[in-house]
Amino acid sequence: MPVISVGRTEEEQDEHGLDGTGEVGKHLVGENEEAHMANPVYLDVATPHVMGVFGKRGTGKSYSMGTIAEEIQSADISENLSTIIIDPMGIYWSMKRPNERDVNALDKWGMKPEAFDVQVYIPEGKTRDFDEMDMPYDETFTLNPARLTSEEWRMSFGLEANSELSILLERVIQELDEQYGNKYSIDSILEAVEEFDFDEKTKKGLENRFMNAKSWGIFGEESSLDKLTERGELSVVDVSVFGQMSGGTRVQSLVVGILSKRILRRRMAARRMEELDEMQGINENEMPIVYMFIDEAHEFLPNEGETPASDPLLRWVKIGREPGVSLCLTTQQPAKLDPNALSQMDILLAHRLTAQQDIEALGEIMQTYMRYDLKHYIDALPDRKGTGLILDDNSERIYPVQMRPRKSWHAGGTPDAFED
Ligand SMILES: Nc1ncnc2c1ncn2[C@@H]1O[C@H](COP(=O)(O)OP(=O)(O)O)[C@@H](O)[C@H]1O
Ligand SMILES: [Mg+2]
Repeated sequence: MPVISVGRTEEEQDEHGLDGTGEVGKHLVGENEEAHMANPVYLDVATPHVMGVFGKRGTGKSYSMGTIAEEIQSADISENLSTIIIDPMGIYWSMKRPNERDVNALDKWGMKPEAFDVQVYIPEGKTRDFDEMDMPYDETFTLNPARLTSEEWRMSFGLEANSELSILLERVIQELDEQYGNKYSIDSILEAVEEFDFDEKTKKGLENRFMNAKSWGIFGEESSLDKLTERGELSVVDVSVFGQMSGGTRVQSLVVGILSKRILRRRMAARRMEELDEMQGINENEMPIVYMFIDEAHEFLPNEGETPASDPLLRWVKIGREPGVSLCLTTQQPAKLDPNALSQMDILLAHRLTAQQDIEALGEIMQTYMRYDLKHYIDALPDRKGTGLILDDNSERIYPVQMRPRKSWHAGGTPDAFED
C-alpha cells in the first residue's frame, strides 16, 4: 500500500518517511454512499505551506483546522514549530478539553480523547468582557500604537485614502514618528492632533477616531506579541469581542496584520542566523517555524478592498516558504478570498461546496493534474460529516478523504432546538 503523505514530493517522502507528519484522515475509495475508508492520509507539518480549507457552512472547516493544529502539537518535531490560531468566533479555547463526546468514534480510529495545552490570548483591555461572560482565557496581548503606520491607522478606521482625515492622520503620525520614534501613546497622538494647524472639523473627526481606538483595548506601551511564538506552543488569539462591534473586523485585521508583519520579520532574521550556522556545520533552529491558522479568512484577505492584514498576509503567502512561515486559511467562499492567495496555495482541503463561482475559483488553481473537473470529485463525495477533497500541488495528487474525529473538544458545532 502506498503511503499517502500530502504536502511532500516523492523525494521528500523517501527521505523523511512519516517523520514530521500527522494523520489527518483516511483516503476514501469509491463514490458516494459506496465510499469506504482506506489508507491513512498523513499531512506534512515540517515544512512551510500555504493551505486553504473550504466548504459551505457547517461542513467541517473549523473542525478540520483544529485537527491539523492537533497533529502539529503531537508531531515528533513539534518543538521546532509554533502555532497560532486566529479565532474570530471564540471557539478554539475548547481544545483545552478532551473530546469525550466522541469517544466511540475516536475508538474506531484507534484514538482517544485528548486535551491540548492551548494558550488563549485576549486583548488586554477586554478582560472584563470575558470575565463577565465566564469565557476562559490565559493571557492578554497588547500592541504598541507607535509602531502602526499611518496606512494601518487609516485602514483600521476605514478612511478613504486622500480624504481630509487621512491627510491630517498622515501628517500627525509622520511628525510623531520623527519626534518620538517608537515611543508614544494614543494620548500623545490626541494632543498632537489638537495642536495641529488644520481645519477644526477634521481635527475633531480624527480625535474621535483615536478616542474610539482607545476603547478597542489592544494598545499598551509595548507590543507583547513575541510570546505568541514560543517553541512548541499552540496559541489562540481570540478576537471574537470585536465581532459585534461596528468596524470590528477592521480591528481584527489590524491585530492579524501587525502580528504577521512582526513574525515574518523575526523569522527572516532567524533564517539568516540559521544559514550562518549551517555554513559552519551547525544545524540549529533559532526560532520555531510558525504556523498561522486563520478562520473566516475572507474577512482578513478579501478579494475586494484592502484590510490592514492584506499586505502582510500576501507577503507570507508569496515569500513565506524561505523564512519558514506557514499559513492556513479557511473560508466558505473561496471566490471572496484574494486570488493572489488562492493561487499560491499548495494544499487545499475542500469540504462540500455548491456555489459555482467557488468551485470555479478552486478548479482554476489545481486543474493541471485533475482528470475531471472539481465538481465531479465533489459530487462523488459521500454525504457524511468531515468528508472532503485534498488537492496537493506537491505530489500533484487529489484525494477524497474522510477527515478524522477531533481528539479535543470542538466548540463550533451548529446548535439545534432538539432536546436530547
Ligand atoms: N471530520 C469530522 N468528523 C465528525 N464530525 C465532523 C467532522 N467535521 C465536522 N464535523 C461536524 O460538523 C460540525 C460543523 O463543523 P464546523 O467545522 O464547525 O463547520 P464550519 O465549516 O462552518 O466551520 C462540527 O461541529 C462537527 O459536529
Ligand atoms: Mg467555522
